[in-house]
Amino acid sequence: MKGITLLLTCLVYCANIGPIRANSPKVCLDGSSCVLGRFMSGNVSGSFEAFLGIPYAKPPIGDLRFSNPEEAELWNGTLSAINTTPDCIQRDYINVTKRIGGSEDCLYLNIYRPLNNTGRELPVMFFIHGGGFFTGSPSPNNVGPQYFMDTGDVILVVAAYRLGPFGFLSTNDEEMTGNFGLKDQKLALKWVKNYISAFGGDPDRVTIFGHSAGGASVHLHLMNNNKEDLFSKAIMMSGVGNSPFALPVNDPRDQVVQLAKAAGVTEAENLSSADLVQALRSIKPEDLLIAADDLKIWAEQPLVIFRPNIENDTWPGAFLTKDPMDPFIPLGTNTDIPWFIGNAPAKGEGLVIALRLASNKSLQDELNEDFIQRLSITLSLSGTCDTEAVIDALVTEYMDGKHELNNDTLNGFLELLGDRYFIHPTYRVLKSNVNSSRSDFRGILRFDYRGPYSYSPYYTNSSIDFGTAHYDDTLFLFDGPVGLSNGYSQQSPEAALVKRYVRLYQSFAENGYSDEFAVSGECNDLNFPNCENLLIVKDEEPFQTGDSWNSERMGLWDQIYDSC
Ligand SMILES: *[C@@H]1O[C@H](CO)[C@@H](O)[C@H](O)[C@H]1NC(C)=O
Ligand SMILES: *[C@@H]1O[C@H](CO)[C@@H](O)[C@H](O)[C@H]1NC(C)=O
Ligand SMILES: *[C@@H]1O[C@H](CO)[C@@H](O)[C@H](O)[C@H]1NC(C)=O
Ligand SMILES: *[C@@H]1O[C@H](CO)[C@@H](O)[C@H](O)[C@H]1NC(C)=O
Ligand SMILES: *[C@@H]1O[C@H](CO)[C@@H](O)[C@H](O)[C@H]1NC(C)=O
Ligand SMILES: *[C@@H]1O[C@H](CO)[C@@H](O)[C@H](O)[C@H]1NC(C)=O
Ligand SMILES: *[C@@H]1O[C@H](CO)[C@@H](O)[C@H](O)[C@H]1NC(C)=O
Ligand SMILES: *[C@@H]1O[C@H](CO)[C@@H](O)[C@H](O)[C@H]1NC(C)=O
Ligand SMILES: *[C@@H]1O[C@H](CO)[C@@H](O)[C@H](O)[C@H]1NC(C)=O
Ligand SMILES: *[C@@H]1O[C@H](CO)[C@@H](O)[C@H](O)[C@H]1NC(C)=O
Repeated sequence: MKGITLLLTCLVYCANIGPIRANSPKVCLDGSSCVLGRFMSGNVSGSFEAFLGIPYAKPPIGDLRFSNPEEAELWNGTLSAINTTPDCIQRDYINVTKRIGGSEDCLYLNIYRPLNNTGRELPVMFFIHGGGFFTGSPSPNNVGPQYFMDTGDVILVVAAYRLGPFGFLSTNDEEMTGNFGLKDQKLALKWVKNYISAFGGDPDRVTIFGHSAGGASVHLHLMNNNKEDLFSKAIMMSGVGNSPFALPVNDPRDQVVQLAKAAGVTEAENLSSADLVQALRSIKPEDLLIAADDLKIWAEQPLVIFRPNIENDTWPGAFLTKDPMDPFIPLGTNTDIPWFIGNAPAKGEGLVIALRLASNKSLQDELNEDFIQRLSITLSLSGTCDTEAVIDALVTEYMDGKHELNNDTLNGFLELLGDRYFIHPTYRVLKSNVNSSRSDFRGILRFDYRGPYSYSPYYTNSSIDFGTAHYDDTLFLFDGPVGLSNGYSQQSPEAALVKRYVRLYQSFAENGYSDEFAVSGECNDLNFPNCENLLIVKDEEPFQTGDSWNSERMGLWDQIYDSC
């Protein structure tokens, strides 16, 4: 009877986990440190191996909060890596509930590899999740590895990194240097470089790829020079380091003071950096996240409060020492880093900034009550330009000249946000880099395929169809969160798209190229050399070629870029 209960329980709960066999997969990193994983069920194929929650850094708690990450010592014996670890503690403003969850002790990584991977070194794909540097999860429940494992040809690594104030707060001096989340990612990459060969991975063929804040992170890793040769290829989808959501704030130290004040630290203005950091270390993490609400100016805006910052290169472990407004990608010891870049349509990209503004009439009315001020906050226009004139020009181009957000101007408004935060910054990255003789640019990918699942209801808290939304393409790379994507039916065009889209990424990781790009056309209207343009659109043949830059709008943003 007990056996039957166990079996039934397993039928209900083990669907994603697969049979837990006696011969669990085990990998030894050296003579004394081993890791015990578990089998998970692939989607098409049988099972694969998962090693969940491997510590790559010391827990960033106590004095290590707001400090550069420190390498974790290897354990003695066998580490059980069969359960997911908590996400990094976060307040998720993208979710309408603005939920707080996770743990400060979160610097773990997950590794997935195909079965029977002996005798060949596989390319490694290192995924950096998105979420505006303040939310997101590396868990297999959110970043489901099944589709990549179905290829049988790649090892996938997904690491957690510190978020929000814990990852991106800086006193602008050595007391609290900032960029902790990015330094976490880099330390995880270093772990991969050191140990992935034990898993059958090729440490010289690591592709970093990311979406949204993950894409911006990839760009910043490229700007970081990669002196240590931690990766050899890069993919940036819907996010670059020069996007306004990722650009350094004007006065990082003032932000620390504001947060400290909101958290009840007395005389915060008058504290030294060292005392400020000490004070902030003694506050409960949940209380810090709630205090950070005070830094929002209107509704959820600015959406991304805590961001990467520019460090002095004399600071220990400095990560970002150049201004990402100049998105040039210097190449370190690697002379040949192939990369490609991509976006969803402007309107869909804009949705993740607009959130409930896209659907909620009373929020739209609030915007209209103080249109110029609230729009300029929503667009992250800095105070250094003539905001009124700039908004006039933008409203003329995008909203038929109407200073009002309503059903008639909504599409234009979303395109405005999408161009500001995603399309134009991508365009600038291309402009700054494709003519560099040392760069190995492989093309632009435009993803416009709305399947049965989309992030749109999650952003907007409504069922209105806005087409392909920001981050939707990840639903064709990963099994997504519950309610967003639970796989596609066998004969569906979506299942076929998953196969091709995942293969595109995998073959890029393998060879630095994908045949899908070979069928694509040149995007010539902007004089980008060697520029192949791959369109993934919902049609009989989803992989097509084409060129859809709006030159006029890009020109308008070029005029504003430096001053706003
Ligand atoms: C592992 O064992 C060695 C030798 O006994 C010891 O020096 C080291 O501190 C141990 N490491 C950990 C993480 O316990
Ligand atoms: C949003 O938050 C609620 C809890 O507050 C949670 O149940 C739900 O899963 C979250 N949605 C997503 C897509 O993360
Ligand atoms: C693959 O690995 C599984 C589990 O370790 C084993 O049962 C099976 O025989 C292996 N298959 C091949 C072809 O080696
Ligand atoms: C900070 O110090 C100045 C004088 O140095 C004082 O005038 C001011 O009141 C102090 N601020 C707070 C919040 O105590
Ligand atoms: C970096 O720090 C050094 C030493 O404190 C200082 O002399 C230099 O001016 C700083 N550089 C920048 C760009 O702030
Ligand atoms: C619109 O947004 C406001 C403010 O967040 C909220 O209180 C209200 O419930 C929302 N209305 C609808 C219909 O979702
Ligand atoms: C605006 O669009 C929404 C969603 O499509 C619709 O429910 C609403 O009735 C429209 N409002 C007006 C004033 O047309
Ligand atoms: C790249 O160089 C070519 C040849 O010099 C030039 O025609 C083109 O305008 C340049 N493109 C960009 C984006 O700078
Ligand atoms: C989200 O949508 C639900 C259902 O329409 C509504 O009741 C709720 O007020 C909305 N919440 C917010 C914060 O907009
Ligand atoms: C996943 O698995 C299901 C069930 O076997 C199958 O119908 C579907 O086509 C598979 N592929 C994708 C991409 O969901």
